Amino acid sequence: MFAHSTTGVHEAVSAAVEGLAGSVPLWAKLSPNVTDLAEMAAAASEAGAAAVTLINTVMGMAIDPASGEPRLGAGGGGLSGPAIHPVAVRAVYECRQALPGLPIVGVGGVQTGEDAAELLAAGADAVQVGTATFADPRAPARVLQELARWCEANGVSNIDRLKGRAHDCS
Ligand SMILES: Cc1cc2nc3c(=O)[nH]c(=O)nc-3n(C[C@H](O)[C@H](O)[C@H](O)COP(=O)(O)O)c2cc1C
Repeated sequence: MFAHSTTGVHEAVSAAVEGLAGSVPLWAKLSPNVTDLAEMAAAASEAGAAAVTLINTVMGMAIDPASGEPRLGAGGGGLSGPAIHPVAVRAVYECRQALPGLPIVGVGGVQTGEDAAELLAAGADAVQVGTATFADPRAPARVLQELARWCEANGVSNIDRLKGRAHDCS
């Protein structure tokens, strides 16, 4: 379901929560292609989302300059992978700052354990791996192993001490 305003997010999440009738918790996946993502996350939370997943793809376009034709069949598309990692980090950081109690799943350009650590430090409670699995289906397991090694190398004995660490520095 797509919603382009806080009212739309509230309505969409409320309808989904009502439909699920408490059978499973609802996580709202949010797009970064908005002016204020924290407002969207707040609307999702108020409507009953148990968590938000940040971020979906970033709107992009590629054009063949020789012909002027778009390179993608649909004209534009969603950009994913390493290029959007900083966008994901900022989205997680800003939503964590605005909504300290809302569980956040961070996703966007995670390729290494350190990328996952960065999203956790920004305030994510959990991390997903998307595009990296296209090149390596075992990427999530590798990222987890690397994260464990990163924690060991950086003196992080409890992952909860890493979560939201960036907010202690601001
Ligand atoms: C080919 C492709 C298909 C996707 N399909 C969905 C989808 O159906 N629903 C959704 O919420 N996100 C979808 N996404 C977004 C990803 O779940 C993820 O939020 C985004 O790609 C950023 O993470 P990544 O850089 O690790 O891929 C898709 C991404 C790609 C590249």
